[in-house]
Amino acid sequence: MYLKYLHVLIFIIFVSSLSSGAFVRRYRFIVTEASYMRLCKEKKILTVNGQFPGPTLKVHKGDTIVVDVHNRGKYNLTIHWHGVKQPRNPWTDGPEYVTQCPIQPGNKFSQRVIFSTEEGTLWWHAHSDWSRATVHGAIIIYPKQGTSYPFHRPVAEIPIILGEWWKKDIMKVYEEFVASGGQPRDSDAYTLNGQPGDFYPCSKPGTFKVNVTYGNTYLLRIINSDLNEILFFGVAKHKLTVVGTDASYTKPLTRDYIAISPGQTMDCLLRADQREHDRYYMAARPYVNGVGVSFDNTTTTGIIRYRGRHGPSTTMPFLPYLPYYNDTSAAVNFTYSLRSLNSESHPALVPLNITKRLISTISVNAFPCSPNQTCAGPNGTRLGASMNNVSFVSPWFDILEAYYYGIRGVFGKRFPSHPPFVFNYTADFLPLELEIAKRGTQAKVLEYKSLVELVLQGTNLVAGIDHPMHLHGFSFYVVGHGFGNFDERRDTSKYNLVDPPLRNTIGVPRNGWTAIRFKADNPGVWFMHCHFERHLVWGMNTVFIVKNGKRADEWLLPPPPDMPPC
Ligand code: C2O
Ligand code: CU
Repeated sequence: MYLKYLHVLIFIIFVSSLSSGAFVRRYRFIVTEASYMRLCKEKKILTVNGQFPGPTLKVHKGDTIVVDVHNRGKYNLTIHWHGVKQPRNPWTDGPEYVTQCPIQPGNKFSQRVIFSTEEGTLWWHAHSDWSRATVHGAIIIYPKQGTSYPFHRPVAEIPIILGEWWKKDIMKVYEEFVASGGQPRDSDAYTLNGQPGDFYPCSKPGTFKVNVTYGNTYLLRIINSDLNEILFFGVAKHKLTVVGTDASYTKPLTRDYIAISPGQTMDCLLRADQREHDRYYMAARPYVNGVGVSFDNTTTTGIIRYRGRHGPSTTMPFLPYLPYYNDTSAAVNFTYSLRSLNSESHPALVPLNITKRLISTISVNAFPCSPNQTCAGPNGTRLGASMNNVSFVSPWFDILEAYYYGIRGVFGKRFPSHPPFVFNYTADFLPLELEIAKRGTQAKVLEYKSLVELVLQGTNLVAGIDHPMHLHGFSFYVVGHGFGNFDERRDTSKYNLVDPPLRNTIGVPRNGWTAIRFKADNPGVWFMHCHFERHLVWGMNTVFIVKNGKRADEWLLPPPPDMPPC
């Protein structure tokens, strides 16, 4: 019966391979609602192809694929390929009103995803309102054919997608949050591969379980897709050896637990070397160090089961030791112990003589409440956030097309290179008037191939907290960090310019700073933002515009014919 369609399919593949020159694999993402039962409650969620978490994309380094995104949901939507640099092709990068207008219900957008230097694990997610809570999935990038991992080949890989679940409809959670002016409602559970696990009501039968064989080594591909929380993750009685982060190899780092922020991905080797019992919990729980910040303080779990005869079955598997929720030094020590592999075949190409140093504060703000409204922020204010005192306002039309076609009135080019007010950013008490920021849509323009250093300076305005800052279009080297205020003279001499980790998302420590470096060799419009969804909504964002180079192969590619209209 299917046979009669086969020739049609072959013909389509044939034609599409002719038109594009080389064979490009195509995927279909049907964004649609599906019913899922979690925490004893049936709920409709937005999914891709009915799956939660969504489908895994498996590619090889350097591949190009096309994903046809069909929006069959009720709301506008965009999809982003987190950590994929998309050389010269910001058109299909995804952040709404930054590189595209959203795909409207009933419409479709064919998104070309161009892999270049990435190798390891990344992920894709919705980049419009809060739909990424359920619209996300893994991207696995294998080494090029004929090459292999820079570590002993694991017998199998185990994707682990950590997430956050609300009993309430996520659009309601989002709308209620925006209307309130305060903090968002806490999630009701964390999930591991879509399942809350044994410690939540009605969740035991679904708990994620994976079988292992004694003596084997497994590759855990861990993704934090949470909207608002950094997580600690570990496996009871087992060590984790980190070998890659954000699709770039690291020197092996062996620890009892990892800390992973929203947006980050981590490849870890796990050796099945325990005989005592046959089952062990893996678990994740939040790391929150902000004072007065409410959060969901629960634990999600999965189970590792040894095959064959093994030690006694315990009634309850062991739980891993994980640091206390506000253990800043545990999280910061882990994150800043990572080093890039920096081998002959995977060299660290750290920009040494930078041509542009940018410093940006990252702050939570408190705005006065508008008249005849009530606001749930501190002392009746409306919470906000900013970079260099500019609280990003999402425009009505996307910045990339406005830039490309020269449409005025959408954005400005005046994002400051330095904080407009200099004060003791990390002081215990700060004058209230500093809590108010400007609102605007300002981009920073960078020369093609400039060597950029960006120092992200946390502040203690309203409440200091770690911020997982993410940059589109690039990976960056994390060359330095510290607590307190960045001091150019003192701190730059302590940078690691030899083997700093290459990342796309980095946790800036609470009341501290982080210095990153990258070469601006990717022309286009690239979003930068805190990967806490609440801070993104509040405006802790900016946009980099990287100019074209001189040669035609250093220019932005032309837009695809089916850019979604506004
Ligand atoms: Cu993971 Cu701008 O996103
Ligand atoms: Cu933040």
